[in-house]
Amino acid sequence: MDKGKMDENEWGYHGEGNKSLVVAHAQRCVVLRFLKFPPNRKKTSEEIFQHLQNIVDFGKNVMREFLGENYVHCGEVVQLPLDFVKQLCLKVQSERPESRCDKDLDTLSGYALCLPNLARLQTYHFAEHRPILCVEIKPKCGFIPFSSDVTHEMKHKVCRYCMHQHLKVATGKWKQISKYCPLDLYSGNKQRMYFALKSLLREAQNNLKIFKNGELIYGCKDARSPAADWSELAHHLKPFFFPSNGLASGPHCTRAVIRELVRVITRVLLSGSDKGRAGALRLGPGSRGPCVCEASPFGKSLRHQGKSSLERSGLPKGCLLYKTLQVQMLDLLDIEGLYPLYRRVEQYLEEFPEQRKTLQIDGPYDEAFYQKLLDLSTEDDGTVGFALTKADCGCLAEVKSQVPEF
Ligand SMILES: Nc1ncnc2c1ncn2[C@@H]1O[C@H](COP(=O)(O)OP(=O)(O)O)[C@@H](O)[C@H]1O
Ligand SMILES: [Mg+2]
Ligand SMILES: [Zn+2]
Repeated sequence: MDKGKMDENEWGYHGEGNKSLVVAHAQRCVVLRFLKFPPNRKKTSEEIFQHLQNIVDFGKNVMREFLGENYVHCGEVVQLPLDFVKQLCLKVQSERPESRCDKDLDTLSGYALCLPNLARLQTYHFAEHRPILCVEIKPKCGFIPFSSDVTHEMKHKVCRYCMHQHLKVATGKWKQISKYCPLDLYSGNKQRMYFALKSLLREAQNNLKIFKNGELIYGCKDARSPAADWSELAHHLKPFFFPSNGLASGPHCTRAVIRELVRVITRVLLSGSDKGRAGALRLGPGSRGPCVCEASPFGKSLRHQGKSSLERSGLPKGCLLYKTLQVQMLDLLDIEGLYPLYRRVEQYLEEFPEQRKTLQIDGPYDEAFYQKLLDLSTEDDGTVGFALTKADCGCLAEVKSQVPEF
């Protein structure tokens, strides 16, 4: 990318979350990811650079190690001409969903992350005559906390996602409670996975998006978006699944396409596996805490059939979902165990603000930083060193030593 000759007309709005806004290049398979902030939150360019660099370093030094080279794209921090960023910001403004406009794109620092565009395939020639599909899933946390610090009984029965559904519908963020429950998706049981994926397709909220040739064709921007239309989705997807099936359409065709879609997603999520089953691993995902969430309609029907004591995780060891769950389960503390440690660090830093820099609280999160954490105290001697280690790295170290393939 020639940063001297950036033209905003070559870039288009691609999507955004709560923290960043993404634009895609019209021809090349790259995106720029900019940070967003509330209107009066002033950050220096240096702080923004460091924030972005921390994201890259965390990807390189932590996530890559757990998920593997092939699954983590760290990107790089780039500095762009301010004129370009300002023009781009004006250009994309009208395409942004209203509910996301409480924050503004950072146009002052000129820094952004440059990443491969995962909604378009780099190896295009594989599928010459078929459209290129990209399915984005935000599966959320797939286990019920097992930390001894948990005090709310309900948290042992109902997963965080399902509890949040009630909150989000009550506060008007979404219109309808989704039947999706992450524990069903992560179960490895085909029936439960199909149910989870179909539910996710019904109420995509911000947990599922589908792109065709880089364009968003399915997934809702906010509660005001029109209801999911499966026949329209099927119309888009038919050339991919049934390329030679002429003009056939109607409910039968819709059902067939959705079924194929769910089947393909399931296959991908269970792929990349080593031989063997998770059950063989002493600390494999699913071997702690309940494996069914009481709020899931599927879980409820299982209980009615008296099948609540299902086999533990049926995920093939090493598949994508398995790895994701294993990383999530590094959270040995739950927020109830973590927050007191966070408060301890916060109070310490209020007392000794100059230690922020020495302890590298705001980065850089390079290799030396993680090594330093590993060397810190592992006994609770009341120090900030223990709190930092336990909160940031203690659980990483523990899992690393128990799961040889990581
Ligand atoms: N590398 C990428 N390739 C394609 N699309 C991306 C890429 N990174 C992000 N996106 C899209 O932009 C959206 C917002 O980006 P995300 O990183 O999730 O922002 P946030 O940190 O605010 O949640 C994502 O939901 C996804 O659709
Ligand atoms: Mg996001
Ligand atoms: Zn649940």
